[in-house]
Amino acid sequence: MKKIAVIFGTRPDTIKLAPIILELKKEKKYFDTLTIATAQHRRMLDQVLDVFKIVPDYDLNIMRPKQSLASLTESTIAAVDTVLVREMPDMVLVQGDTTTTFVGSLAAFYRHIPVGHVEAGLRTHDKANPFPEEINRRLTSCIADLHFAPTATCKNALLREHVDPRNIFVTGNSVIDALRISVKKHYSFSIHTLNQLAAQNNRIVLLTMHRRENWGEPMRAACSAVKRLAAAYPDMNFIFPVHLNPVVREVVYGTLSSLNNVFLIEPLDYMDFVNLMARSYLIITDSGGVQEEGPSLGKPILVLRKVTERPEAVTYGTVKLVGLDETRIFSSAKKLIDSKAAYAKMAGAINPYGDGHAAVRTVHAVKKYFGFSKKVIHEFRPR
Ligand code: UD1
Ligand code: UDP
Repeated sequence: MKKIAVIFGTRPDTIKLAPIILELKKEKKYFDTLTIATAQHRRMLDQVLDVFKIVPDYDLNIMRPKQSLASLTESTIAAVDTVLVREMPDMVLVQGDTTTTFVGSLAAFYRHIPVGHVEAGLRTHDKANPFPEEINRRLTSCIADLHFAPTATCKNALLREHVDPRNIFVTGNSVIDALRISVKKHYSFSIHTLNQLAAQNNRIVLLTMHRRENWGEPMRAACSAVKRLAAAYPDMNFIFPVHLNPVVREVVYGTLSSLNNVFLIEPLDYMDFVNLMARSYLIITDSGGVQEEGPSLGKPILVLRKVTERPEAVTYGTVKLVGLDETRIFSSAKKLIDSKAAYAKMAGAINPYGDGHAAVRTVHAVKKYFGFSKKVIHEFRPR
């Protein structure tokens, strides 16, 4: 038996680790699975834990309102280290590019514990975009012993950094595992307004924004574009679950409050959110995970970023980078709303990010690492 500690703390890393935790727990003969929540997010983490029915073995309850990156780093490393010393797992798994990811891997490294990095190899090669995530994932790659790359592009990025190819596994992204079990044909939302809006014929534009590099003026410009769209299309509904970060809320509520067809709502639980995505016409976002989910649902995505570490769907044409310029965001969305041809061109469902078997491949690679299996792992390939 090997003890595998899975460390998570925010909304996205927890959504993407949930299928892997569930898969690890099936392998009781080989693995004792220990779940450690830093709780870098509090409410948005609890929403995910509730959906996937995960009760962490340790909840470090780290989040503080308006936490700085330095204070978050400091409290995370101290608290994670205390658990690692007590439990001494045989491996630590982290996911993605948050502070929890990087600091969790660093704490394991300091205690000579091997690290598996889920969603490895995403790169923009621009340390300011996304900030600080590009550096968090590069630093995590320096530490990791096993690299679970979601796509071949990510594997190639790791190879260029001289990572040993024997330690890289192209698994697909586990966000697609989660999505496949969560989107339902007939779905009743937990929020009454959403059921009402979904029942109307009016088209829905779904919005999310939170990135640090977009704080302030860029985010204000994006919100102004949404305001213009809402005025230009009074028969469409703009639904915006607003991230709990006070810096984000100040800009969003300051710009978009009291518009008839703009609905500023609290962050949705994962089931509500992905089922709302499935019922939306268009998605405008700066999120990483939403960029991966949208293409699988055949939804055009306008991405509020200068660069993306997820180029695959841009190449396929379902995702378009529109940056943070008000006029460009407005005109790109207008084109998709007005032109059926432009919309149809972007709306085909593709799965460049996963096939729903990422968790099985990941856990299999961990089994191989410990000598529990000799079977070949078939890499994920998009169809
Ligand atoms: C973090 C990640 C980012 C990820 C994002 C997903 C880092 C540095 N950033 O950014 O990579 O894309 O999560 O959402 O790891 N807050 C609450 N309740 C919550 C969550 C947040 O009140 O449930 C507020 C708090 O005031 C908190 C602030 O938001 O201090 C910022 O949270 P933090 O995790 O530091 O940064 P995010 O911007 O959420
Ligand atoms: N999400 C959610 N509720 C919301 C908004 C997003 O559950 O109100 C989910 C979404 O489906 C995706 C993930 O959160 O899986 C993305 O998280 P976020 O945008 O916060 O972070 P990022 O992916 O940009 O790091």
